[in-house]
Amino acid sequence: MRQLADFLTERAWTLAFLVALFVLLYPYGRAFVLNVEVTPARRGYEVALRSGCFTCHGPDGIGGVKNPGSEDEEVPGFAGGVPMMWAKDDAELREYILDGAPARKRQDPEYQQKIRQWLLVMPAYRDFLSDREVDDLVAYIRARSDLIVPSDPQAAQGHELAVQLGCFHCHGPMGSGGPPNPGSFKGYIPGWWGHDFRDLVRSDDELRQWIREGNIDRLRNHPVARWFIDRQRVYMPAYKDFLTEEQIDALVAYVRWVNRGPWKQELDRAQR
Ligand code: HEC
Ligand code: HEC
Repeated sequence: MRQLADFLTERAWTLAFLVALFVLLYPYGRAFVLNVEVTPARRGYEVALRSGCFTCHGPDGIGGVKNPGSEDEEVPGFAGGVPMMWAKDDAELREYILDGAPARKRQDPEYQQKIRQWLLVMPAYRDFLSDREVDDLVAYIRARSDLIVPSDPQAAQGHELAVQLGCFHCHGPMGSGGPPNPGSFKGYIPGWWGHDFRDLVRSDDELRQWIREGNIDRLRNHPVARWFIDRQRVYMPAYKDFLTEEQIDALVAYVRWVNRGPWKQELDRAQR
């Protein structure tokens, strides 16, 4: 009898230990088992967050932080096109991050004079970031800039709509994915760049259904998927009553363009 009790207590402790281990390791275990997708732009966002970039450039790089003494009286944001014109290309973006400004500006006495009047100046991060972190920051800022747009008019209209409707707040800049989503299968909102998208969108019909209904039949009718769909705290809104069919077509064209990735070559060209 005694022996049996000992045996059971021992079992109980082993079980408790295993459960604790699983809970502690869950995010890692999940990442390992579920093929979690992290795009460079998403990593770049996280680097920006822990590097304090948003304290000056506004939450999510939205801008609007007062900078008395400067021409615009504000620190530029990363989005909206115009401010990004100050950095000509990726090489200049890197220089901004590493040295506080590109050499052509830092060596210009007029610029030196000018920034002396500013309350906030861009710090040099050279000794504080690795090459990879800088690459990721550039990917994030480029995606966030709203400057990489399709030339096809329908897809370009889709891009405008995506900005206006706030698709990127949930799906990340240019659908780079990753904002947290408690209760969902992988724990984050899926992007439009890689294998998550391939699993979730198998045809244009499904893509259209996602946007119209916030859901697709294939997952709605699947018992396990259904459980996660109901459980996730952030859900895909159903846009069908708020958009015309033409607008939905435009969004489909844009999401397809992002997923095909011709813009990645544009990024590479800019980097050279
Ligand atoms: C102390 C405030 C401050 C912090 C922190 C800061 N910046 Fe800046 N940043 C500025 C200011 C001010 C400018 C405008 C400089 C200019 O016009 O030459 C600027 C300009 C830039 C530019 C070029 C302008 C543009 O939008 O193209 C980039 C890119 C940039 N910052 C990225 C970053 C990144 C990435 C981080 C974090 C690693 C960061 N900044 C942190 C103040 C800051
Ligand atoms: C409030 C947050 C939110 C907004 C806004 C939002 N989505 Fe979603 N979207 C989600 C979530 C969460 C999922 C995953 C849902 C699931 O698995 O049930 C999703 C799924 C999708 C999918 C399918 C899978 C994938 O890889 O992304 C597409 C495509 C999509 N959304 C496109 C859009 C478009 C286009 C817009 C803007 C018109 C948009 N979403 C706006 C949260 C959002």
